[in-house]
Amino acid sequence: MSEHEKHVRMNGSEFKKGWTGGLPETPCGYGSRVKQTRKQRIIIPEWIERYEIQSLADIGAGDLNWSKLVDFGCAYAAYDLVPRVSGVTRYDLISEALPAADCYMVIWVLNHLPANQCKIAMRKLLKSKARYLIMTHDPRMPKSTDIKPVESLVLRRKAEHIFELRLIRL
Ligand SMILES: C[S@@+](CC[C@H](N)C(=O)[O-])C[C@H]1O[C@@H](n2cnc3c(N)ncnc32)[C@H](O)[C@@H]1O
Repeated sequence: MSEHEKHVRMNGSEFKKGWTGGLPETPCGYGSRVKQTRKQRIIIPEWIERYEIQSLADIGAGDLNWSKLVDFGCAYAAYDLVPRVSGVTRYDLISEALPAADCYMVIWVLNHLPANQCKIAMRKLLKSKARYLIMTHDPRMPKSTDIKPVESLVLRRKAEHIFELRLIRL
């Protein structure tokens, strides 16, 4: 097994445990709770309509805790390294080719990857044939992930850090 494969496999088991901040509601962390996602559940369908997005691939979709409540107004498909619920396809953003989509949605995913994987994933998304990328931005992520968005929403502020949801035109 290559070093890269070992790393991906390790991450799979690490991610299986999930995060405690959203328990007992969700294993996907504080930011995935229904209450915490109120603004993004409103704004994402608005962006989809405004930019005439035809299909959304939700990568690192988790347990669909909040996304299952949203009518995105376009075709929707969910992917995750750890398919936690039915309806989510097993998929590894680092080692597999991107599924075809008009827009990728990568929410609270890249911030959990080691810096080298985060850069690989971002480069891949930016080079894709999709027209848009919806992502959470954490200022502590590598510089290459800090792309000027066409739309943004402040999700959270913690000390000097501002966490945003961004719509990026690719
Ligand atoms: C904090 S959760 C966020 C889930 C969801 N996006 C949300 O907003 O509720 C991060 C998810 O990314 C997934 N993930 C981590 N690395 C991944 C990879 N390389 N490819 C696909 N999914 C990955 C994890 O398994 C986990 O379900």
